[in-house]
Amino acid sequence: MIDQLNQFEQAALARLSGLAEAAALQAWKSETFGKQSLLSTALGELGKLPKEERPAVGKRTNEIKRALEAAFAEKESAVRAAELERSLRAEALDVTLPGRPLRRGRLHIANQNLRQIYSIWADMGFQIYRSREVETDEYNFGLLNMPPHHPARDMWDTFHTPTPGIILRTHTSPGQIHAMRELYPDPIRVILPGMVYRYEQITVRSEIQFNQIEGLAVGKGIRMTDLKGTLTDFARRMFGQTVRTRFRADHFPFTEPSAEMDVECFVCGGQGCPVCKQTGWLEILGCGMVHPAVLKNGGYDPRVYSGFAFGMGPERMAMLKYKIEDIRYFWGNDLRFLEQF
Ligand code: DAH
Repeated sequence: MIDQLNQFEQAALARLSGLAEAAALQAWKSETFGKQSLLSTALGELGKLPKEERPAVGKRTNEIKRALEAAFAEKESAVRAAELERSLRAEALDVTLPGRPLRRGRLHIANQNLRQIYSIWADMGFQIYRSREVETDEYNFGLLNMPPHHPARDMWDTFHTPTPGIILRTHTSPGQIHAMRELYPDPIRVILPGMVYRYEQITVRSEIQFNQIEGLAVGKGIRMTDLKGTLTDFARRMFGQTVRTRFRADHFPFTEPSAEMDVECFVCGGQGCPVCKQTGWLEILGCGMVHPAVLKNGGYDPRVYSGFAFGMGPERMAMLKYKIEDIRYFWGNDLRFLEQF
């Protein structure tokens, strides 16, 4: 029996030394230590041997088992190291190759344009005040001097939510009330930029969402001349120092008096062309002196305080500036458009 075991050991070691792959090693392992192997059967049948042989056979079987296990472990780590070495060599990286260039991103044209406008207003002493996009009917209309059923509400086609009285803001003007209520009794000079939403048919000139920039100045002794001077200065910084501007009387419920501001058409220089519809002028914003009722709703006593406000459409302005003929390009996510800026 001992001879048989010794032969088994020699044969197993001989086969093991010739192996070079992990799969073959696993096969060797199950042949050598598996249930059918001589090692297992020898131990299993120990009881059938004559009593005096049993200790020697048992001892030898265990020795061989341990020796084979040790040989296996050694071989296994050698094979692993060799395989690693092989794969490192085969899949070698040439670290001296130049890397793949990363595509450089850019700001969206709408954001580039917004930032330019922010910095002009910042230079003029206006801070940015952020206001919510989901509003109550009261802030969007009521507190801006448009009680329920006021006909002026028809100027803004509105997205309503399933919650009665909760809407998407149709303009940035409700931010005026938030700013006043938060900042009272301090003087105010803020711009309120952000998305507004309108339940409108989408055309080349109108989208269901777009940015607006509201402006609000409140203090003592603020007059219409301050409004005109400030907005004219803005237009010059935005469109060039020599640009001509004009104000036309208009109506908004939250300002009195109200106006619209035009800049000279820079496509035709004021001569009249298709872009300005032959008028020589381009409308860029609505504005006016804050209505006493609005000041009061914001917490400011209109007998003591006055102020001006304005609301402009930055995308409309960018369209004029870059001669973009369709407002839908802004949110269409078409790289052929976006990469031009
Ligand atoms: N909220 C107006 C709109 O969406 C724009 C506007 C006009 C804002 C006059 C003002 C303003 O602050 O004084 O059409």
